Amino acid sequence: MKFYKAAVVGAGAMGSGIAQVLSQAGLQVVLKDIEAGYVEKGLANIKRMYDSRVKKEVLTQAEADSHFAKIKGTTGFDGFDEVDLVIEAALEQIEVKLKVFQELDKICPAHAILATNTSALSVSEIASATKRPDKVVGMHFFNPAHVMKLVEVIPGVKTSEETVNAAIDLCRTMQKNPVKVEECPGFLVNRLLFPYLNEALYVLQEGKHGPEEIDKAAVDFGLPMGPLTLLDMTGVDVCFHVNQFLSAQYGLRFKTSPLLQKLVDNGFLGQKSGAGIYQHTPGKIYGKDEKRELNPSLAKLLSEIKIDSGSSSKGGVFDVYRIILPMFNEAVYALQEKVVAVNDVDMAMADGTGLKRGLLSLAKEKSLSFCYDRLIEYSNSHGERFHPAWYLGKLANAQIHDFSELAPAPVASVH
Ligand SMILES: NC(=O)c1ccc[n+]([C@@H]2O[C@H](COP(=O)([O-])OP(=O)(O)OC[C@H]3O[C@@H](n4cnc5c(N)ncnc54)[C@H](O)[C@@H]3O)[C@@H](O)[C@H]2O)c1
Repeated sequence: MKFYKAAVVGAGAMGSGIAQVLSQAGLQVVLKDIEAGYVEKGLANIKRMYDSRVKKEVLTQAEADSHFAKIKGTTGFDGFDEVDLVIEAALEQIEVKLKVFQELDKICPAHAILATNTSALSVSEIASATKRPDKVVGMHFFNPAHVMKLVEVIPGVKTSEETVNAAIDLCRTMQKNPVKVEECPGFLVNRLLFPYLNEALYVLQEGKHGPEEIDKAAVDFGLPMGPLTLLDMTGVDVCFHVNQFLSAQYGLRFKTSPLLQKLVDNGFLGQKSGAGIYQHTPGKIYGKDEKRELNPSLAKLLSEIKIDSGSSSKGGVFDVYRIILPMFNEAVYALQEKVVAVNDVDMAMADGTGLKRGLLSLAKEKSLSFCYDRLIEYSNSHGERFHPAWYLGKLANAQIHDFSELAPAPVASVH
């Protein structure tokens, strides 16, 4: 399907980034929000993105001006009767999305695809607000949308193969890397990331390893930043809500760490509130090896939590697999459920989180039985949340050493 004109609903952080990418890919774009001030703010944001591309000599001024001119702001539905596609990036509230999709269904041409950038809501439920559920699909961009390469393409129960393929083609036109993910809580990247973030907090509350040591171990492993730095940056409250949601859906593996709850209860929400795990000074950017200042209240919060450090906890050098293997294990659960193709997992994690080495490649580097045995060990010492995926045991017992030995892939890869 060829896309000529698109609309983006919601001109906030994600909507403005998506509109920029669509316009740079050559599409005419209508950018809608509920108030003129929000539309103007979104357009100013996009202008800054283009200015930065000119400054970095990625685009000439003339190219940037011509792309920017393709975007028209509105608070109404002007131009929606001519679009081939809408990407909705309004608030993450089901009532808002259902109302938006109901309106879009009435106004947009019958052939138009309606995509949602929801982080966690059900694509199938959103589609139910329309008379074209076959043309509704999830397109989950990552923040900042104009920079991050990954887009998770999520079919709802009634989404047609044609719509999925069209969304995948569009991603490629936008120079994004699409990964098809079956609908499940957290989709792929967030689902894998949260057991890792949560576990870093469990380690911290045991008192044997400090935040900088944990963060440094993750960076040394290949992550662009440590889990506790990421937590502060994303917002402790946002992470708390996502983890609570995943915990309600998946159970024990996502059991929220008491420290996460404590940070939220005490208003330590990370960068935006001035303190989370670390103390934050507005405008201050820390160098790679610069010593970070800890939240001065952290020690008190930790002392208020009953600590269970586990019988086999060694202390000494921090064992980074304690936070990496929960992420690996969740990837295997996702494979077990056929949520994603085996070949797509490492690419999605690289593009969605910046992980510099393959997550599933860990099996090849360390062996599957190493991963399985370690998870059993952690499960004995620290609790059921480490329980290895059944599929991991099956593969280890079958003497599979590397996921690339598995063929065919569980879901047809989009690459
Ligand atoms: N921020 C992220 O990291 C991120 C990442 C991936 C997906 N998402 C998802 O993208 C969506 C938008 O997130 P965001 O961070 O850009 O939020 P945001 O608050 O920055 O922007 C949302 C915008 O939508 C507008 N809006 C609300 N109701 C509307 C309506 N009925 N019609 C038109 N506009 C409306 C708001 O006025 C606001 O400007 C959410 O569903 C969110 O879960 C966010």
